[in-house]
Amino acid sequence: MSSAPVFIASCSPRKGGNCDFAASLVERTLPVRSSVIRVSDANVRPCNACGVCDSMPGRCTLDGPTVLPSSVSGQLPAKDGAKALFASMTLAPVTFIVAPIYYYHIPAQAKAWVDRTQRFWAMKGESPAKGRAMACILIAARPRGDMLFDGAERSLRWMAKTLGMEWLEPLEFYGLEHASALADSVEKQADICSYAARIFGGLPR
Ligand SMILES: Cc1cc2nc3c(=O)[nH]c(=O)nc-3n(C[C@H](O)[C@H](O)[C@H](O)COP(=O)(O)O)c2cc1C
Repeated sequence: MSSAPVFIASCSPRKGGNCDFAASLVERTLPVRSSVIRVSDANVRPCNACGVCDSMPGRCTLDGPTVLPSSVSGQLPAKDGAKALFASMTLAPVTFIVAPIYYYHIPAQAKAWVDRTQRFWAMKGESPAKGRAMACILIAARPRGDMLFDGAERSLRWMAKTLGMEWLEPLEFYGLEHASALADSVEKQADICSYAARIFGGLPR
């Protein structure tokens, strides 16, 4: 198993909410080092379909500092975060994605990250994260709904596939609405701890 830290990506823009709490539970459960990143704070720019990765597979123009007119350059972060997130995924033995459901999908900041995987898709069959795995915890407010997690799950599964990662069955929660809903549920916390332990225990040594 890779000795790099397990990577835990908390994908809600709400600070200190259910995803951040779940991410910290996973971190505390694992017997090895992990690094937790809040994807919404990572400044991932959305793909603008420039087409550069079609002609230069693996490259993305949004990785570099953007040349902006001086009128706006001071207001925007110069450094884009996608490359660092992918680097963590390719090194970690397993990546845990913890995401809330927003309109039957993941929040826009996290979807921007998924879309930036396009550079690897353009590499057609090369697998930068081969031998690594992706596990997901998805959190929604609705108490029921057959297809509530389908959109999020499908996008994340294809992100994993594009990177050559093994897709592990996600853990999904209904009925967590307010920011402290998970903190109030000892049962759901226990589910997260057992899931993290099970995923970690199943990794090849
Ligand atoms: C913009 C937005 C859209 C949402 N859409 C859905 C939805 O489609 N279905 C659902 O069950 N919950 C939806 N929710 C509720 C969140 O999934 C829920 O509150 C979750 O616990 C948020 O996680 P967090 O505390 O980590 O931010 C939405 C919340 C927001 C802010």
